[in-house]
Amino acid sequence: MSKDKKPKPDFKKAKSFLVYLKPYSAWYFVGFIFLILTSLTSIALPVLLGKLLGTNYSSTVPVDINISSTDNIYTILIFLAIILPAQGIFSFFRVYTFSYVTQSTLRDLRLAAFKHLVSSPISFFDKNKVGELTSRIATDTQQIEETLATTLAEFVRQIIVITASLVLIFYFSYRLSFIMLAIIPIAAISAMIFGKFIKKLSRKAQDEAAQSNSVLEESLVGIKNLKAYTNEFFEIKNYTTTINNIRATSMKSALWRGIFIAFMLTIMLGAIVFIIWQGIELVQTGDITKAEFFQFIFLTVMLGTSIGSFPDLYAKIQKTIGATESLMKMMEEPVEPVLTNIPVKSDFLIKGDIELKEVSFYYESRQSVTVLNKINLKVSSGQTVAIVGSSGSGKSTLASLLLGFYQPVSGSIFIDGQPFNSYNLSDLRSHIAYVPQEVILFGGTIAENIRYGKPDATEEEVIEAAKKANAHLFINGFPEGYTTLVGDRGIQLSGGQKQRVAIARAVLKNPSILILDEATSALDSESEQLVQEALDNLMQNRTSIVIAHRLSTIKKADKILVVNEGQIAEAGTHLELSQKENGLYKKLSELQFKN
Ligand SMILES: Nc1ncnc2c1ncn2[C@@H]1O[C@H](COP(=O)(O)OP(=O)(O)OP(=O)(O)O)[C@@H](O)[C@H]1O
Ligand SMILES: [Mg+2]
Repeated sequence: MSKDKKPKPDFKKAKSFLVYLKPYSAWYFVGFIFLILTSLTSIALPVLLGKLLGTNYSSTVPVDINISSTDNIYTILIFLAIILPAQGIFSFFRVYTFSYVTQSTLRDLRLAAFKHLVSSPISFFDKNKVGELTSRIATDTQQIEETLATTLAEFVRQIIVITASLVLIFYFSYRLSFIMLAIIPIAAISAMIFGKFIKKLSRKAQDEAAQSNSVLEESLVGIKNLKAYTNEFFEIKNYTTTINNIRATSMKSALWRGIFIAFMLTIMLGAIVFIIWQGIELVQTGDITKAEFFQFIFLTVMLGTSIGSFPDLYAKIQKTIGATESLMKMMEEPVEPVLTNIPVKSDFLIKGDIELKEVSFYYESRQSVTVLNKINLKVSSGQTVAIVGSSGSGKSTLASLLLGFYQPVSGSIFIDGQPFNSYNLSDLRSHIAYVPQEVILFGGTIAENIRYGKPDATEEEVIEAAKKANAHLFINGFPEGYTTLVGDRGIQLSGGQKQRVAIARAVLKNPSILILDEATSALDSESEQLVQEALDNLMQNRTSIVIAHRLSTIKKADKILVVNEGQIAEAGTHLELSQKENGLYKKLSELQFKN
């Protein structure tokens, strides 16, 4: 177990969670008042019941000299008739206010977590698996929900019950109480030791659960791959390992909890038997009344149960501190300066001049590999620049830098002559359209997917954009047209169709800078020509960076850059580069145009 030793819980991090609770602290306070009231009424119950049982109303010799008349029975019953509904009403308000506080806090926390995640830089997602993040957030918030709504309240209630019943049993018989007290320290010390140990195990089980969820998610997301490569057996084996780990850890924790509970119960029950024996003797000698004895017994049982539930509560609270900690740690990771509270302003404009000066870059996860090495590049507003080069040479990385997904390790990027970082990132991105290498559409209608480029676009604008992207025909071919659902819950579009939807999205955005990463790679020659026309139109009057494998698509570019091993090996027009003896571009184009 020592191999995955975690750092000690950092209460400061867990404390920063209180910010989310603060707006509702008044309500929480009210909830605690109801909690105190319910706790006190629940204490009154054994007191009254004991009295009721101890009252001798058999009309023969009164054993008890204090309580002998039937009047007292009715008084007790009237008290009970008041206490019981009062307890009900207090409980209702306790549950309701605690739920209100919990749900409000959780709403704020979930929103903050979502805001944080969508504002996190791409490098964060390189380091953290999406499956683990989502399951982390799901289990952590659930943990916090349970603690805020019930565990904490229960904890406080038990403290009140324990204190009040201790005071009362001492009042009834200090001799019996001392016998009780001899047992409590044993229980308390073992609770502490066990609690610590159990907490460690449950945190481990939680981590393992997150891991197994990520295996599940990754298998299902990549189900086609899994099947095509007949990896069912392998993934099942993988999953089996992770769930076996969960079971083993949970069972280990259960073993210790079981031992603990058995130990506590034996001591407690033994003590009760002993106390009953002692009590009977005291009643016999007349030291205490029968009613007091019954009250003592009821309170002792209550005390025992309260103390017995402590380790569980303690373990749960510890678990929540762990969960809060990891959630807060995630929220402390740096975010990008993007706008999350207001929409991006529309009066900001850029011309689209781009300049890269000595830009170098490597990925944080693989610092030994320099992906871009001192790139210098100048693109004037309205120009089309094509980037070619072998696979893995850094073309998509260059596009990522222009979108601000990553920061250059050294060198700088200028937009309209101003440093990239002097702009608001959201403002800048709002003028860049990007058609990525792998288009991912979200679950929704085709129209919604196109409108992603301009949320307030009219229906006419959407259709206009689709026409320009040469997507209108195939969309109209679907029975439901633009309202056809795509993605998980709808139909799946072909690669080329997806690309055209993504191009329509870019058309609608009407950007100053257009970045196309292999935008026509999934199209057949005929569609490619149609889309190429659309792209040619789209590229007019704006700065365009076109990454392409197929050189036929970039002949008309103002400038072609050949990237090789992170550097710009050649630059020029198609004509210039095709004539360069021993040139890379010449070689590439000879290979492609041969057939
Ligand atoms: N997120 C990442 N983390 C670490 N390394 C990465 C990451 N993305 C890409 N790389 C590496 O950076 C290098 C350049 O990748 P890039 O995607 O820019 O190539 P590319 O020129 O676009 O290739 P292709 O033509 O195949 O699309 C590759 O060696 C790749 O393995
Ligand atoms: Mg690429």
